[in-house]
Formats: sequence, structure tokens, C-alpha cells
Amino acid sequence: MQKVRKAVFPVAGMGTRFLPATKASPKEMMPVVDKPLIQYAVEEALDAGITEMVFITGRNKRSIEDHFDKAYELENELEAKGKQKLLDILQSIIPKSVTCIYIRQPEALGLGHAVLCAQPVVGDEPFAVILADDLIDGGTNSEMARMVEVFGDTHCAVLGVEEVPHEDTSSYGIVEVNDVNGKLRISNIVEKPKPEEAPSNLAVVGRYILTPRIFHHLQHVQPGKGGEIQLTDGIFALMQEQHILAHKLKGTRYDCGSKLGYLKATLAYGLKHPEVGDEFAAYLKDFCRV
Ligand code: UTP
Repeated sequence: MQKVRKAVFPVAGMGTRFLPATKASPKEMMPVVDKPLIQYAVEEALDAGITEMVFITGRNKRSIEDHFDKAYELENELEAKGKQKLLDILQSIIPKSVTCIYIRQPEALGLGHAVLCAQPVVGDEPFAVILADDLIDGGTNSEMARMVEVFGDTHCAVLGVEEVPHEDTSSYGIVEVNDVNGKLRISNIVEKPKPEEAPSNLAVVGRYILTPRIFHHLQHVQPGKGGEIQLTDGIFALMQEQHILAHKLKGTRYDCGSKLGYLKATLAYGLKHPEVGDEFAAYLKDFCRV
């Protein structure tokens, strides 16, 4: 049985919902308190035992590579000034045993196309896909760790899902599921259906474990909604050959690709931050009283 050793992080999107903040810097580098979104995503993968991080990057994404690279000058400076605590924070961003690989998606042709770009590196193994703008506070275990467990038990592809309000189905891939011996087996998946056409209100959120056969299907799917190569369409084709399971998220998801979701995440992570949480809570209490 193959283990999930590799995670793909598609970070080549345009981030139009966050303009002008994302004009010259990537959405995935926006900080929630003191860490960029992409670092939370990588930490989730590390917690799931994943050791190879594959970033699908595009224009203006250099800062992501820099973030996971060694910063010699800064580290030397901190060392010279005896700022050991800050140095430790920098050096613990990613363990030395973990490999980071960067692949350029030449054009933002869609999430399905971004995942297909990872094929030369992923090869013939199951792999995770994590969308950093869906920030999931999983509690003691990361959500991906729970999904890797489901994959280990079933050897099936697994999609992270969450119930969304019916009126929001047109923002998500929506699945229909059957309960088969306590597992939710996906029987249909539709990209961004109108509420009246949606088969359910179970939305796929940014966590996937896929089998390598997905690459075959992504090579053949035609541009779908919005003229993009949709991952949803590749998954629909894969579903005709293999069982695919839905995993209901146990953690709390923040859609940090939207302004409101990002603000909610900042509030939640600020309140539990060991350094500023208590003071922030006191401030908010006062702020809300006014
Ligand atoms: P989104 O649908 O959130 O698109 O992509 P976006 O461009 O990032 O943001 P908006 O909607 O314009 O504000 C979902 C994920 O897929 C990646 C994005 O980086 C994001 O993580 N993606 C999307 C790619 O890597 N390449 C693409 O061609 C499209």
C-alpha cells in the first residue's frame, strides 16, 4: 500500500477577490496574525506525515519560494544581535528533511491544470492537494492527517467536504453521497451548480487525496466552467473508474480567499495567539461595548 508522501499546493491563481492586495504579491502570503496562509497549509501537511511539498506557482509568486528558503543575511544578523528566539522561529519554518519543489504553471488555466502540472514530480503515487486559502483550524490533529487515515483504511481517493448554505452552492464543487457502511461514497460531483440544480449542499473544500489516475483524466478533460480546466471534471471522470469518498471536515474552515473569511480567521487566530491573545480579547471586549 502506497503512503501519501507528497502534497501539491496550487498557488498560481490570480486572487482577484483580494485586489489590490494581491496585485504584486500572492494571496497565499497574506498573514493570519504572524504566519502566511501557505505556512499554515504546509504545517497541516507536515502533521499528516507528508515530506515532499510541491508548489505550483505562477507570476508574482517568488516570495513563496523565498519564504521556505534559507535567509542567510537575516539569520546572520539575528545571530549577531543574539536574537535566538527569532532565529529559532525562522529556522523552524520547515524541517531540513522536507523537500520543497516549485513548478511553474505558465498560465492560470484552472485548478485542474495546476494539479496536472505536478504530474512529473508526483508520478505514480497517491498525493494530497491543499488549497492554502481554505485555512482549517483542525484542533489537535490536522484535517489532512485525518484524511490520510481514511485513505490508509480504504485506499480510495478522499475529498474534504462541508455543508454550505444552499444559496452558496454556485461557489463550490458540490457532491452527492451515499452512505456505504458508514463511509460517504461520492456518486456525483458538479462544479458550481445553481442552488436549484445542486444535488446537495455538501461542498468540496480545499483538501483532496487523489490517486495518480487523476492525471490521465486531467489530460483529457475539456475546459469547463469559466473556460478553465476544472479539477471537478477530472474527479467526475475518475469516479467512473474508482470509488471516491467524502470526508466531512471536523475542523473549522475559514475561506481566506474572501475578505470576510479572512477577517474571521484573523479574529479566531488572534484570540488564541499565545503572545497577544489575552490582550486582544480584552481590547475586543471594550471595542464591542462602545
Ligand atoms: P480560486 O478559485 O480561489 O482562484 O482558486 P484564485 O485566482 O486564487 O482567486 P480569485 O477567485 O480570483 O479571487 C483556487 C485555488 O487554485 C489555485 C489558486 O491559487 C487557489 O489556491 N489556482 C487556480 C491555480 O493554482 N491555478 C489556476 O489556474 C487557478
